[in-house]
Amino acid sequence: MTLKEKYGSWALVTGASSGIGEEFARRLAAEDLNLILVARRIERLEKLATELNEKHNIKVVVAPVDLSKKKFMNELKEYVGKREVGLLVNNAGFGYNGEFVEADSEIFRKMIKVNCIASTEIAHYFGAQMANRNKGAIIFLGSLVGYNPVPLTTVYSATKAFNLFMGEALWYELKKNNVDVLALNPGGTATEFQQVAGTSSGPVARSVEEVVNTAMKKLGKRPSVVDGLANKVLSVLPRFITRRSALMLAGYMRKKLYTAPSISSK
Ligand SMILES: NC(=O)c1ccc[n+]([C@@H]2O[C@H](COP(=O)([O-])OP(=O)(O)OC[C@H]3O[C@@H](n4cnc5c(N)ncnc54)[C@H](OP(=O)(O)O)[C@@H]3O)[C@@H](O)[C@H]2O)c1
Repeated sequence: MTLKEKYGSWALVTGASSGIGEEFARRLAAEDLNLILVARRIERLEKLATELNEKHNIKVVVAPVDLSKKKFMNELKEYVGKREVGLLVNNAGFGYNGEFVEADSEIFRKMIKVNCIASTEIAHYFGAQMANRNKGAIIFLGSLVGYNPVPLTTVYSATKAFNLFMGEALWYELKKNNVDVLALNPGGTATEFQQVAGTSSGPVARSVEEVVNTAMKKLGKRPSVVDGLANKVLSVLPRFITRRSALMLAGYMRKKLYTAPSISSK
């Protein structure tokens, strides 16, 4: 069965103006899905929309919406109109690297809004419609840092634990409605994320193509997936050591491996 037959003809991707979201858009367009592309940078979205429309002859709606704003959901609903979203990629998000108490708390407020509140409201709105139609799929972008608290990216790590929990628990809730839910958990992946967060993609950076491939392979098959073997090992390690040791290790790795600029980050 094709994605279109299984979920319907429209997919909505948040954070489609770069990185993993942009790759999801390319991949879903190649699968003949029409797209609603959401992010703030309209020029990027329009360029991608033109390219994908010309290449795959699909319909593309550009939705320049700031997901940290109070009325974002009203704006998004207007762009979507009566289109039936069958596949939702809840991908928009950003991080921050540094000491919690030294950061401007406005960054954290925005981060929680985009990473947690927006992804919840969007999943609730479209998830209810999918449940009624008895078909659909939702992908949440969690992260390797959602498996264990990671110091020096403390709030971001907490938001990603939130996304991981949302994806896994909704996998169970929506199974009876024939809606596939997946929490996709990449480790360091070379995108604009590192530039925004002031971090590095680490020693074993993965590509956006690899991350999206992992998601497409596991969607409908399991509640969550960690992308890449090294990341998988790191995600289960905390189960075998004390929480204190896991925190010490996470803090050490954050300082040593993920703080300096990496040649693999843009
Ligand atoms: N890269 C990694 O190492 C990594 C690892 C694990 C998980 N992740 C997760 O993967 C997801 C995608 O990140 P990425 O690596 O692809 O980073 P990216 O290249 O920086 O892309 C982030 C996307 O989110 C959008 N976005 C940010 N703030 C927004 C806002 N207020 N309103 C609407 N859109 C907003 C950005 O678009 P605009 O700036 O145009 O609005 C952009 O399209 C995130 O949820 C991230 O937490 C990334």
